[in-house]
Amino acid sequence: MQIAAAPAHLAQPRHLATPPAPNAVRAAHHPGLARAGALSAAGVFFSALSRRRKLAARRAEGEQVVTPWEVEAGEDGVDYDKLIETFGCQPITSEQIERIERLTGKRPHRFLRRGLFFSHRDLDELLNAYEKGEAFYIYTGRGPSSESLHLGHLVPFLFTKWLQEAFDVPLVIELTDDEKFLFKKDLTIEESRRLAWENAKDIIACGFDPKKTFIFRDSDYIQQLYPVTLQIQKRISLRTAQNTFGFDPADNIGKVAFAAVQASPAFSIAFPDFLEPGRRCFVPQAIDQDPYFRLCRRVAEDLKWPKPACIHSKFLPALQGHQTKMSASVASTALYMTDTEKKLRKKINKHAFSGGGKTEEEQREHGANLDVDVSYQYLKIWLEDDEELERIGEDYAAGKLLTGEVKKRLGDVVSEIVREHQEARARIEDATVERFMDPAREELRSSFAKKLA
Ligand code: TRP
Repeated sequence: MQIAAAPAHLAQPRHLATPPAPNAVRAAHHPGLARAGALSAAGVFFSALSRRRKLAARRAEGEQVVTPWEVEAGEDGVDYDKLIETFGCQPITSEQIERIERLTGKRPHRFLRRGLFFSHRDLDELLNAYEKGEAFYIYTGRGPSSESLHLGHLVPFLFTKWLQEAFDVPLVIELTDDEKFLFKKDLTIEESRRLAWENAKDIIACGFDPKKTFIFRDSDYIQQLYPVTLQIQKRISLRTAQNTFGFDPADNIGKVAFAAVQASPAFSIAFPDFLEPGRRCFVPQAIDQDPYFRLCRRVAEDLKWPKPACIHSKFLPALQGHQTKMSASVASTALYMTDTEKKLRKKINKHAFSGGGKTEEEQREHGANLDVDVSYQYLKIWLEDDEELERIGEDYAAGKLLTGEVKKRLGDVVSEIVREHQEARARIEDATVERFMDPAREELRSSFAKKLA
């Protein structure tokens, strides 16, 4: 995923820039635009052009753009209420959070308590079934687009780990090496497979239980997925795919078909080694992935398979501000899991957008605007202690704390998370990855058989 046309203040030195996506890729991002182009070279050109014009128009009107490939919001950041409305999802309510606490007997993860996970599809149906004793499984994934993950990449996995433990259910993790190969111009299959393997180590380092977790690369597991993928492909028309993802006539056909690959693991028949058919699926994901699951749920209805339930997160804002998200391809916006403590602190001090006063006097007098202050927003996500967070919020808003002090605390918190992650990751060997990637393990079967009984 990458940001199209980063705003000027996010401009980066040439040598850090990833190669620009070809027009075809860019043009793919906007539903409806592809329709403007006929199946001719002129049409392709026209659709790419009109897409750019429409995008420019949407931006000029301050409209937000959120697709699986880009996130760009107006001055005030992504309007998540509006996103819920346009996508047709539901907001998560405090009653639902309490219900999760009641059903699991676990204090909800801070990502849920603090509204980072904010939207869902069919959460009540899932919880109703669970309450009646019906087990589900969790499915999430990652597109291996970069070697080093940033803090934002960890969000779905840390939350997924909490969900898996709280509900004590099986988990499958899809690594879409095929997707990244198809969507990234210069990526080879070998490199994409290697990135997926390395990313698996970062994912495992989040602490998943191997007895209950299966991780797979699409290029390895496609043989088992394929019968399911075929069923799905047969039920998605080119028109529907185009309306959902805005493919361009010049795009490669693998991109169109990929939607069915990402949908496949949402059905338990894709995992005959250790899951029984018809088991419900629950998909934690960042909200930009919702188009895939909208399609997936429609197909499920057609096929009379259980529709996957979904839970959506917001994005981690870029260091420079919430107009866009943290992006691995724009180095200065991101805190990487491979950064040294010194580097993390330096980036925070230099780039984290401040909602505080311009001078110490101003800050003492007027206090900070917490909503736009990136350091405070990051603390809201990463600082576990509720009381400390509240204290910092009150003091910072009242002008008793200075931006530098808040940044210092954020530096402590983030450095510790990154250091722990690096230590855990260093202990993960190739043999461990192999174990997680073996679907036929006896331990997988037996730990779920127990749940089934
Ligand atoms: N397409 C996702 C990405 O680029 C990866 C992914 C595959 C995924 N399956 C998923 C994400 C299921 C969330 C849920 O990152």
